[in-house]
Amino acid sequence: CGIVGYVGNRPALGIVLDGLRRLEYRGYDSAGVAIVDGALLTEKRAGKLANLEKALADGAVAGLGEGTTGIGHTRWATHGGPTDRNAHPHRSHDGRVAVIHNGIIENFSRLRAELEARGVEFASDTDTECVAHLLAEELATVDGVTPEARLAEAMRRVCRLLEGAFTLLAVDAQAPGAVVGARRNSPLVVGRGAGENYLASDVSAFIEHTREAVELGQDQVVLITGEGIEITDFDGNVAEGRDYHIDWDAKAAEKGGYDYFMLKEIAEQPQAIADTLRGRLSEVGEITLDEVRLSEQDLRDVDKVFIVACGTAYHAGLVAKYAIEHWNRIPCEVELASEFRYRDPVLDRSTLVVAISQSGETMDTLMALRHAKQQKARVLAICNTNGSTIPRESDAVLYTHGGPEIAVASTKAFLTQLAACYLLGLHLAQVRGVMYADEVAAVVEQLSATPSMVDRVLEQMEPVRELARDLANARSVLFIGRHVGYPVALEGALKLKELAYMHAEGFAAGELKHGPIALIEDGTPVVCVVPSARGRGVLRDKVISNIQEVRARGARTVVIAEEGDDAVAPYADHLIPVPPTPTLLAPLVTTVPLQVLACEIAAARGHDVDQPRNLAKSVTVE
Ligand code: G6P
Repeated sequence: CGIVGYVGNRPALGIVLDGLRRLEYRGYDSAGVAIVDGALLTEKRAGKLANLEKALADGAVAGLGEGTTGIGHTRWATHGGPTDRNAHPHRSHDGRVAVIHNGIIENFSRLRAELEARGVEFASDTDTECVAHLLAEELATVDGVTPEARLAEAMRRVCRLLEGAFTLLAVDAQAPGAVVGARRNSPLVVGRGAGENYLASDVSAFIEHTREAVELGQDQVVLITGEGIEITDFDGNVAEGRDYHIDWDAKAAEKGGYDYFMLKEIAEQPQAIADTLRGRLSEVGEITLDEVRLSEQDLRDVDKVFIVACGTAYHAGLVAKYAIEHWNRIPCEVELASEFRYRDPVLDRSTLVVAISQSGETMDTLMALRHAKQQKARVLAICNTNGSTIPRESDAVLYTHGGPEIAVASTKAFLTQLAACYLLGLHLAQVRGVMYADEVAAVVEQLSATPSMVDRVLEQMEPVRELARDLANARSVLFIGRHVGYPVALEGALKLKELAYMHAEGFAAGELKHGPIALIEDGTPVVCVVPSARGRGVLRDKVISNIQEVRARGARTVVIAEEGDDAVAPYADHLIPVPPTPTLLAPLVTTVPLQVLACEIAAARGHDVDQPRNLAKSVTVE
């Protein structure tokens, strides 16, 4: 869910709605706002933010435009369906407080039963509503010199009753110049303005107003007023936030002339890769990590790597396995973060666990990381979001410099994750002494050439767009690849599922004949990722055989192959040439046409490319 709060001297409604628009990628099942203006006024609607804006424009609640304190929410439903009544904010039975929430309150059924036993009637099916009622109860008894101090103390008391993960914001009709926030295992940042302050799930919500942010720690309550920011733990002990400057500007989070954020983000990939590589290689050919709380000895002791991640980041991990094992000669396993800890994996001090996450907030990945730490493994994060939870809890961090990714389906973050994984693989190999500096430098040089390769791919996308319109009505699309082309096939299929809602599956090309080949009917599109003809020619020949097998059974083949690889042309109904790239690095270029294909098929089918149904960009529940 996306959360925003504002206190200052300007009307809050417009600022809160603008913030929600920028956070809508975090969830868009329903949206709502609460404004304090003498009284507490709330409005909320199922569906996208536009529905709420329409209700507001129709004058649903008079006076909402005036107040200078407000909170807003855009939801990805967990408890209770996406209806008007389950939309946030939720108000207390006495109407005094309004609460918005991201996360899941795990003991909510007990809390709800207790409240009901005390005569409280519930107006929704959500876990959040408990918090509103509990806050009102605490406010009735709490001591404090000012109304703001009472609100903060009531929130602390409520937090001590809650189990699970949450970001909460609340406003109180009797504390008109304050918003209180709380966080446990769920994101919340503070924006520091002049005579005004902000709270939000991430900085994009307030970046057009201020680039000064304050990072909060775990289990903290923050009270913002026009004049100040006060942070405490749940027991009331004063805490310090970490101030930081946001070094990208509001434009980075705008569409900039593109129809969709996703198209813009696909186009930004050459820059994003270049930014991620920049400054990592020292003059002596050494790769530098951002924040390393691991000694070189720790890295030399590593005898096994485990990569944990979800969704697209997991596919980056699958590619990384090939590179890390090849360069380091140590085993590297890749596991879906949501499965990792429940499998009881074998970990110890010499295991390096790499958590890959664009947002740095994905709960499944965070929980996998914590499990790894409990088992004494070292944890390194590859992350795109400065100051987020996953890098904060890791022993070392390698940031991807992709800039803000707004489209829900990941594109540039994926390519930057790949770039970071290559850097990590090389760094490890170097520290462990299994690769010489000049060997590392040679790969880095190849890596440095990839942004211009991606540029070239992007220049040649018109035929792919045409093909997309042609494939828009296919019933199902299959993707095949071998070696690093296999995760690329998985990622191509995932993009198509996410964006176009089509049945799509990726297979290891060699595995197709062991079952899935039965899916092929006359005209079934099969996208084939062909490895480089150089270096690993055997691999490429094998894929060509697999293409022939599907073609013989009626498939319509879409073949992604190196420019000038004439041998594949006879088996391709559609050929998509990409610039020659060393085998291990090829996913940086072969993924790009698959992103464009999925995006264009979705657009041709009339779907919202940036906000696909049922998804959210940052999933902060398990
Ligand atoms: C969500 C998104 C995916 C993303 C995954 C992991 O499910 O919809 O696009 O790949 O989370 O996100 P992360 O922020 O951890 O990379």
